[in-house]
Amino acid sequence: MPLKKRKMAVTAALPYANGSIHLGHLVEYIQTDIFVRFQKMMGNECLYFCADDTHGAPIMIRAKAEGTTPEKIIEKYQAEHQADFRDFHINFDNYHSTNSTENRELAEKVYLELKEGGHIANRDVEQAYCENDKMFLPDRFVRGICPKCSAPDQYGDSCDVCGAHYASTELKEPKCSVCGSAPTRKVSRHLFFRVSDFTPELEKFMAGDALQPEIKNFLATWMKEGLKEWDISRDGPYFGFKIPGEEDKYFYVWLDAPIGYLASAKNWAEKNGRKLEEVWGGDGGEVHHFIGKDIVYFHTLFWIPMLTGAGIKIPDKIHVHGFLTINGEKMSKSRGTFVNAKDFSANINTELLRYYYASKLKNSVDDLDLSFQDFVFRVNAELVNKVANLGSRTITIMNKAGLGNKLAVLGNDNELILEILRAGETIRNDYEACDFALVVKRVCQLADKANAYIDDNKPWDLKNDPEKLRTVLTTGILAFRFITFYLKPIVPAFAEKVERILKLEPREWSHISDYPTNLLANHEIGQFERLMDRVDMKAVEKVMESAKQKGETAVKAPAPTHSHLTKHGEDAAPPASTGQIEYDDFAKIQLRTAKVLTAERVAKADKLLKLSIDVGGETRTLVAGIAKSYTAEEMVGKTIVIVANLKPRKLMGIESNGMLLAVNDGEKLTLIGPAGEVGSGLKVS
Ligand code: 2FM
Ligand code: ZN
Repeated sequence: MPLKKRKMAVTAALPYANGSIHLGHLVEYIQTDIFVRFQKMMGNECLYFCADDTHGAPIMIRAKAEGTTPEKIIEKYQAEHQADFRDFHINFDNYHSTNSTENRELAEKVYLELKEGGHIANRDVEQAYCENDKMFLPDRFVRGICPKCSAPDQYGDSCDVCGAHYASTELKEPKCSVCGSAPTRKVSRHLFFRVSDFTPELEKFMAGDALQPEIKNFLATWMKEGLKEWDISRDGPYFGFKIPGEEDKYFYVWLDAPIGYLASAKNWAEKNGRKLEEVWGGDGGEVHHFIGKDIVYFHTLFWIPMLTGAGIKIPDKIHVHGFLTINGEKMSKSRGTFVNAKDFSANINTELLRYYYASKLKNSVDDLDLSFQDFVFRVNAELVNKVANLGSRTITIMNKAGLGNKLAVLGNDNELILEILRAGETIRNDYEACDFALVVKRVCQLADKANAYIDDNKPWDLKNDPEKLRTVLTTGILAFRFITFYLKPIVPAFAEKVERILKLEPREWSHISDYPTNLLANHEIGQFERLMDRVDMKAVEKVMESAKQKGETAVKAPAPTHSHLTKHGEDAAPPASTGQIEYDDFAKIQLRTAKVLTAERVAKADKLLKLSIDVGGETRTLVAGIAKSYTAEEMVGKTIVIVANLKPRKLMGIESNGMLLAVNDGEKLTLIGPAGEVGSGLKVS
């Protein structure tokens, strides 16, 4: 019986518009893309929506620092993101922006519905305020001494040393991260969404089958702790949408970000003569979100009440995945494992990463490790040696066999083909359940069997029996055709190339449901083309080298912040400045080598060392924030690189004359080592 066609709107989390796509992000976009491509092959109307997540304080502050506008930054990254997605064959039906008319209208509509429903409260909030920058400071933009353990230089929301959580107003000696001045405290009225009004709906949602069991457990714990009101407003200046009916108040970025899913769907609907309501769950349609486990809170506790209150369909499924580790560890700039999409795509066939991720993705929130050695081993052993090799060994013989490239009429008793066709239903269920690891495993088993069939039947020995040869090759080619078909959502470009070589039209999944062993009887195939090259560690080293270079150009870059690994929205730490400077500005910097004569810890400052250094015969004092990475003893005798012409600055009451250069990978600082003579001026070109 033919399956009923489904309508589905599918989303992946919206990437921030002020950073590049990296391998961590790609787990989700690839996972979702595989799911969507599979649904399309099933003949379902499955639409993949995404957008750039543009609003918030970090982008505004960065634009100011770089002398540009948030819109310019957004534009640059939107183009970069889209190019990266194309390179990885991530095929959105629509890629939009949260800084769009549709999103503004929808955000206002949702808010006004909530307000009319009596779900918006307001009350005064005291916050850090910078008189110099004339703005309220998000927690992550205030640094100071931890109120619990007195560790210096901690963020305004939590302490990295003792783990305490606090309000930024509790920090001792707080400083504005933008200008360094001490913030004051200021009271302002904020708007709150009363999430707890929707407790029954949330409970119902939790009891259904939209969530994985682990996620239900998280949610149950949060619900038990009690639902707090959610602060959805921010004072100007803020880059976002103004809240209707309020003076200089803006929607908090996390209010309009998920509404961006709807905005993207609406934008698509309008371009295609359809209506949002129709595309988003209309006519029995389904809504699916794919997200990382770090943003479950927003997508359950806030998003479900928002949609419910606004009378919009809630998701049928939220598919949550874990974090990406590389070689078993957090991505790291200095180790060259903080890899951007471009570092990878410039050096390695991107479908190999799609295949590798698929081979590790189950419907689970467990973290996923990309081990580069395993990656090289696995894609070569499976995709190249098993799958592509089956095609190349059979098609090349067929091309040379003088059989007119014509496939045989196979009997309905061809066991290998029947077995491969029977697996279709199981594989279909694995895709539906997002268990792509199982798909890959089954397909590899089928490829093993097909290769064994070729080994056993030795087509190279059948020159004198052309019709037997035709049958054996047809069996191999047909097996290859179905195996590639099963892998098509994972490696679409590879599968399309195979279709071209075999002169086949793209088909839906249903074409195999009646086991047509004779599907390609008498079909004439085309000429073989090289299918897939092996990858080696040299290519991986190039990827890492290119990732590392970017890490090293950032002098004391802030800790890596990226979706799916760290904090979100305006809670994210100030972004690393990628603003370009003129050569003339750079040339002003005097880099000198210096020798460390003595070193000692600075009292009450965990991170600081006081150094006495010899700069070409002149002795200077320099205070450096490197005590977490180097002991005082280790520093003595080292040759370091300093910025020699920095204005003197006082740190913990000690005057520091110059700045030492080190690279920060987010965990540890590494000194930049010179090759020149002590005291020599390094050429800066
Ligand atoms: O975590 C992030 O990277 C956010 N930009 C995701 C937003 S998803 C949705 F809610 F918009
Ligand atoms: Zn300031």
